[in-house]
Amino acid sequence: MLSTERSLENSGLRYLPQVDDLSNPPSPNQQLLPLTAKVNQKDHLEIGGCDVQLLVERFGTPLYILDEFSLRTACRQYRDNFKDYYSGDSLVIYASKAWSCLAVCNIINSEGLGFDVVSGGELYTTLQAGVNPDKIYFHGNNKSATELEFAVETGCKIIVDNWLELKTLTEIAPAKSETPVEILLRLTPGIECHTHEYIRTGHLDSKFGFDPNQIEEVFKFVSQQKAIKCLGLHAHIGSQIFELQPHQDLPEVLAQWLKKAQEYNLPIQTLNVGGGLGIRYTESDDPPSIAEWVKIVAEAVEKACKRYDLPLPQLIAEPGRSLIGSSCVTAYTVGGSKEVPEIRNYISVDGGMSDNPRPITYESLYRCVIANKMSADFTEKVTVAGKHCESGDVVIEDATLPKTDAGDILVVTATGAYNYSMASNYNRIGRPAAVVVNQGEANLIIERETYQHLINRDRLPERLVNSAN
Ligand code: LLP
Repeated sequence: MLSTERSLENSGLRYLPQVDDLSNPPSPNQQLLPLTAKVNQKDHLEIGGCDVQLLVERFGTPLYILDEFSLRTACRQYRDNFKDYYSGDSLVIYASKAWSCLAVCNIINSEGLGFDVVSGGELYTTLQAGVNPDKIYFHGNNKSATELEFAVETGCKIIVDNWLELKTLTEIAPAKSETPVEILLRLTPGIECHTHEYIRTGHLDSKFGFDPNQIEEVFKFVSQQKAIKCLGLHAHIGSQIFELQPHQDLPEVLAQWLKKAQEYNLPIQTLNVGGGLGIRYTESDDPPSIAEWVKIVAEAVEKACKRYDLPLPQLIAEPGRSLIGSSCVTAYTVGGSKEVPEIRNYISVDGGMSDNPRPITYESLYRCVIANKMSADFTEKVTVAGKHCESGDVVIEDATLPKTDAGDILVVTATGAYNYSMASNYNRIGRPAAVVVNQGEANLIIERETYQHLINRDRLPERLVNSAN
């Protein structure tokens, strides 16, 4: 008994999710490992009913392992809590910049959510996954004319960010669409929140959205355009936020703008409050649950609309990280190690900053376990190094782990958001494969990039070939 308690506290077991009943799951964003994570009789980590060691034998490493149950649970918790807490119509749209690929879009679409896309590429991916354009919202602070034409042709909604875009759209729209193009206007709310400087967007000094001081001019211009129809207003305050207060404050600002829009007879029926709910990357992270976030937002919108005597708008939220971040882990194979006496011990893995650029970009912290030694005591403090030619390529500094050998499988938790989508081919390393796991079944959703993939789009001009010998 004592020894079980000790290893629970002091082994990979401590990161297992606290789930008594999968029919009533907790909020995925508060867990370090996916909801279906377990340890099997071989002392191996199992996700979605699949032994991680067997997945690695079959698909290789590095490998993104996406737990379908956790992803679907997060979608349902967002969707159903909005139904419970908001009296008007609501729509949750997935910020697909967190991870855009056909299978992820397919799963989220099948849960009835819509999509936020930020480029022609993300728009194309959602369309190819079978998403109805009516549920797609196109964001971005510098959409090209080609992207805008593509968006108008598909009939998706466009979240207009600035004057140039507004004017380009009024020129493009009449030729490309018989009906007015439906838009939302993005405004900068001037709300500060505590998160990394690079991922704050709501403060006034932000590259995103119209300056609220210009709001009347924008409303006036939009109200005079026949080719566009303004359906709503949008604001987003930032990402990986644990505080509820800024989300509670935002609807008040949006409602004030909505009131102003009435003076210009704009047919506004939608408020989009953005995303931003954080997830747990380490034990000390303590994000609110999806239900708590939805409740605060829904109540704040109702209260603000009441105060300004506005009819309840359609309420849109666009989470990315909290929908998918905690559903995925990355499995690596442990390679060499190095002891620097009295300073630190390194172990190296077969990936790093090219499959997870977050530590080197934002100094993000992660946790890891050894998937084939789950209950072994954590006796070591080691720095998990990536394999790229750069000293800063460290996946986790000072990780606590059991004694680790070359060939062990090291699993980094909570890698579903902004990992694959920010992956690169630095050092000409192919991007990893990804699998989706569910009830003992594993399916490839992204193929591993091969050497051939890496040179597929390279071109060698004839004159260089000729001059080589
Ligand atoms: N809506 C808008 C307009 C956004 O800009 C974002 C994220 C979201 C929604 C979704 O936010 P989320 O729910 O995921 O927090 N690469 C950074 C995160 C950048 C977030 C950009 N915008 C990272 O790895 O932390």
